[in-house]
Amino acid sequence: MKFGQGQKIIITGASTGIGRAIAIEFAKAGAHVGLLARREDLLAELANEIQTLGGKAFYKVADISERQETLAGLTELIHCMNGIDILIANAGVGAPTTIEPFNVETQEKMIRVNLLGVIYCIEGVLQTMLNRGKGQIVAISSLAGFKGLPGESGYTASKAGLNTFMEGMRIQLRSKNIYVSTICPGFIKTPMTEVNDEKDMPWLMDAQTAAKIIIKAIQRKTKVFRFPWQTSLLMRITSLLPDWVIERVMKKYNDNPPMPKNPL
Ligand SMILES: NC(=O)c1ccc[n+]([C@@H]2O[C@H](COP(=O)([O-])OP(=O)(O)OC[C@H]3O[C@@H](n4cnc5c(N)ncnc54)[C@H](OP(=O)(O)O)[C@@H]3O)[C@@H](O)[C@H]2O)c1
Repeated sequence: MKFGQGQKIIITGASTGIGRAIAIEFAKAGAHVGLLARREDLLAELANEIQTLGGKAFYKVADISERQETLAGLTELIHCMNGIDILIANAGVGAPTTIEPFNVETQEKMIRVNLLGVIYCIEGVLQTMLNRGKGQIVAISSLAGFKGLPGESGYTASKAGLNTFMEGMRIQLRSKNIYVSTICPGFIKTPMTEVNDEKDMPWLMDAQTAAKIIIKAIQRKTKVFRFPWQTSLLMRITSLLPDWVIERVMKKYNDNPPMPKNPL
């Protein structure tokens, strides 16, 4: 039996990029997928595509930075799907941190979505998993969570916070038969990264390849999964470098940081 077959899997941020690719791959494996994001037209289109392929998809619209909206969306999805086996908290946003002006609202939004949003999503599924005595909670974090980077302070802080939150949850839920995985990708080709110069994104990977790798890590219940190994190694080396080297290497990026197409 293929991993995922007959399982009920909810994916946040399923309207584009990595989340969309994970939803398609799990649906192909025979999973029932619950899709959550803000853009209803994209969710409806994806659900149709999955149903055309013979899969089963449900969707709900919610902004995960709004706690009540998130809880309502997840409760409705769990009801439609008659349960949940795996939550994949993937929705996230990214934007540079600038100093003149110091863009506090952008950083607040990143932390609200990338950290608090995941916590609200966990709240939305946790009691159901505890009642069943099993489940799996997965967060899509980032290799950027292992080092504070100039021009990316808000994003890296949101992911570092997510990493330690998930680590604590993993240990706390051990005895409850609920597995927790933190997935830390390098550069993946998605709408989030399309504003970046490809030359600045070594070992860039397409979303479908990334989704297949992520699903394998979920199947193995890997605690913390970093990929690709080359970017992971680069980040480990970067964390040992003196500040002046990192400042120099990232100067061009910081002189003209790529802003997201739609402001957060
Ligand atoms: N691409 C990379 O290189 C890379 C690397 C490491 C980690 N990641 C992480 O991977 C995850 C997916 O990113 P991606 O690259 O696939 O980006 P993406 O294509 O921009 O997808 C982001 C998804 O999150 C959803 N989303 C954003 N804000 C939301 C909110 N407030 N409420 C609900 N849904 C929201 C978006 O849907 P709506 O706009 O429709 O709501 C979209 O479906 C993120 O957590 C990102 O930080 C990405």
